[in-house]
Amino acid sequence: MKKIITYGTFDMFHIGHLNLLRNLKNMGDFLIVGVSTDNFNKEKGKRTLIPFKQRAEIVASIKYVDLVIPESSWEQKENDIKKHSVDIFAMGNDWEGKFDHLKKFCDVIYLDRTKNISTTELKSSLKRFLSISQDDLKHAFDVLELLRRDLE
Ligand code: CTP
Repeated sequence: MKKIITYGTFDMFHIGHLNLLRNLKNMGDFLIVGVSTDNFNKEKGKRTLIPFKQRAEIVASIKYVDLVIPESSWEQKENDIKKHSVDIFAMGNDWEGKFDHLKKFCDVIYLDRTKNISTTELKSSLKRFLSISQDDLKHAFDVLELLRRDLE
């Protein structure tokens, strides 16, 4: 049984997250995902929109994921790898080289990220969207409605 482990925040779950989890499951038999806790994110200066319990529940419900564990410190990775007899430690390549010290315990790989999507990008799109005035928004929907009617 080949076991794989990965870690992440998985805030505002998106297609980049799904692609990563699918690719990882295809590499082995059992996928473990460490989801960062709200306190750990605070330590890293990262604020999430979705609280830990919900992020963990969403990731756990993905069919490629076999086990979710909380990620609450940088140091726990070595212990997790040993405890779960992990074969492959994997992260997206935004982390390239950052976890090479774990090569003592298992294979360490970095996967290509899905292009043009990230939680940061979604948050700024949301900000741009919310800064549109109500009148402009109504106008945009009216134009779309006319286009839709034209197509019928
Ligand atoms: N990931 C990916 N492709 C993307 C976005 C994320 O493969 N387009 C991967 C990351 O490389 C990481 C995992 O998904 O291994 C969890 O990433 P996370 O930091 O939670 O997601 P991001 O969208 O990168 O969030 P942020 O913008 O806040 O960094």
